[in-house]
Amino acid sequence: MITIKSQREIEAMDRAGDFLASIHIGLRDMIKPGMDMWEVEEYVRKRCKEENVLPLQIGVDGHLMDYPYATCCGLNDEVAHAFPRHYLLKEGDLLKVDMVLSEPLDKSVLDVSKLDFNNIELMKKYTVDYTGGLADSCWAYAVGQVSQEVTDLMNVTKECLYVGIQQAQVGNRIGDIGAAIQEYAEKRGYGVVRDLVGHGVGPTMHEEPMVPHFGRAGRGLRLKEGMVLTIEPMINTGTWEIDTDLKTGWAHKTLDGGLSCQYEHQFVITKDGPRILTSQGEEGSY
Ligand code: MF3
Ligand code: CO
Ligand code: CO
Repeated sequence: MITIKSQREIEAMDRAGDFLASIHIGLRDMIKPGMDMWEVEEYVRKRCKEENVLPLQIGVDGHLMDYPYATCCGLNDEVAHAFPRHYLLKEGDLLKVDMVLSEPLDKSVLDVSKLDFNNIELMKKYTVDYTGGLADSCWAYAVGQVSQEVTDLMNVTKECLYVGIQQAQVGNRIGDIGAAIQEYAEKRGYGVVRDLVGHGVGPTMHEEPMVPHFGRAGRGLRLKEGMVLTIEPMINTGTWEIDTDLKTGWAHKTLDGGLSCQYEHQFVITKDGPRILTSQGEEGSY
């Protein structure tokens, strides 16, 4: 269902987006060589409990198993939906951290600190049906000093994100977003993942329309004021093709073993252009 959001709904998503952005800002200083990747998941869980926020990825339906964690942590050639796990980050690694969080909730309605995040069946009762303010954002982190290849990939991927967001104008079409991203990436020799796409957000995390990061300008749905979407390009150093982990059905990797990067913002389309709801306060130049 494609919905136009009310002012009240946008304000709730704004609160969720501010909280999610504060988590990414916190991770900036934590992620360094020698850190255990699992600490990323623990940090998000701790902040959620402290500030009464639901980690909405726990319990998302999957083909083989429901998603068990608050975060997706993709390392190097991992593309999306990789599980956080015990792994000591090393100098030169590229780590992508994606999550979907609620706004801080009223404790008298639900006390998140009392929930057992390891109990997926229980968590599903709160996460799957949640229709309040929510935010979805992925950010990429360089671990220590990274190679020029990683630096370039991170820069191009972030530029792809903003090139796409710039197209999210009233009257433009969905295809304008994908076409702009695809052209930007492919001109520079990168591959754009096609199997996974951006999406509408609200009332739940994955709503219509799909927002591909490739496509043809002037095609597809016309964009309207009040739509809330994500753009989340996954850009590869090599082929756009990916391979899925058949054991869990969740994690993907680049087919050729090349590196992959991702940034994701959630934004609302206004008559003055897109307004980013998950901003970390550094978008002034775009
Ligand atoms: N945050 C992801 C997205 O951008 C959704 C992950 S689905 C999950 O759409 F199951 F892994 F949570
Ligand atoms: Co996401
Ligand atoms: Co998303």
